[in-house]
Amino acid sequence: MPDGDLPSRVAGVRWYHTIDLGEGIVTPGIDDTPFRLARLDLPASLAGRSVLDIGAWDGFFSFEAERRGASRVVATDSYSWHGPGWGTKAGFRLARQVLGSKVEDVDIDVMELSPQRVGIFDVVLFLGVLYHLPHPLLALERVASVTRGLLVLETVVDLVGFRRPAAAFYPGRQLNDDPTNWWGPNAAAVQAMLRTVGFTSVRPVTRQRSAMYRGLRAIAHRVKGKNQLAPAFRQDRMVFHATR
Ligand SMILES: C[S@@+](CC[C@H](N)C(=O)[O-])C[C@H]1O[C@@H](n2cnc3c(N)ncnc32)[C@H](O)[C@@H]1O
Repeated sequence: MPDGDLPSRVAGVRWYHTIDLGEGIVTPGIDDTPFRLARLDLPASLAGRSVLDIGAWDGFFSFEAERRGASRVVATDSYSWHGPGWGTKAGFRLARQVLGSKVEDVDIDVMELSPQRVGIFDVVLFLGVLYHLPHPLLALERVASVTRGLLVLETVVDLVGFRRPAAAFYPGRQLNDDPTNWWGPNAAAVQAMLRTVGFTSVRPVTRQRSAMYRGLRAIAHRVKGKNQLAPAFRQDRMVFHATR
């Protein structure tokens, strides 16, 4: 239920997600979130299913799960809601209010997730978070502990073309000039880690993008001063579905 004041309230938030609030108002996020949604291969209907969105930030994917009929959606985050970075929880709160959403929120670090703290969910979204964590295998153990059915994992992958499970380490600001980025596992490592923490079926749902695409993106990153050319050429983003 947009109000006359809404444009100025939206303008007062530093948005990450691009969220359609209705009445022609779309949040000016730096992330092309609808494009990323299309790559996730989410079930068209989530009717009757409980959904946990880990690292939800402005909540685009939580609201989308609700829109697809989820019986209960819980959004969690910590760093960008209250941490030292440039994010806040203001966007999530505003979007939830405007959309008339019943998405619940829990302020919790990934490493603190457990069935006792948040419960166990039919569908868990773990999007754009894994590479921000210094201890990815431990984090995936926590994520697995709260997943009953399907885990949808989206992450940066690195060492594209290298077949053995391996990961690039990003000390300092090596990935995208961002000190919160730690590890870029390759696709084989992501799949092996997911099996290690108890998922029995694991599959990539996106294809590795072409050398041409990765080359052009590497040049763009180099021009912006975000990354070196050769490492960037080996990087991509992929989506995996895993079930227990
Ligand atoms: C790149 S954003 C992705 C946001 C959203 N999931 C998406 O895919 O658009 C990374 C998110 O992970 C969260 N995050 C990073 N480290 C975290 C941690 N240790 N515990 C909880 N959330 C964390 C950040 O606060 C941020 O919201």
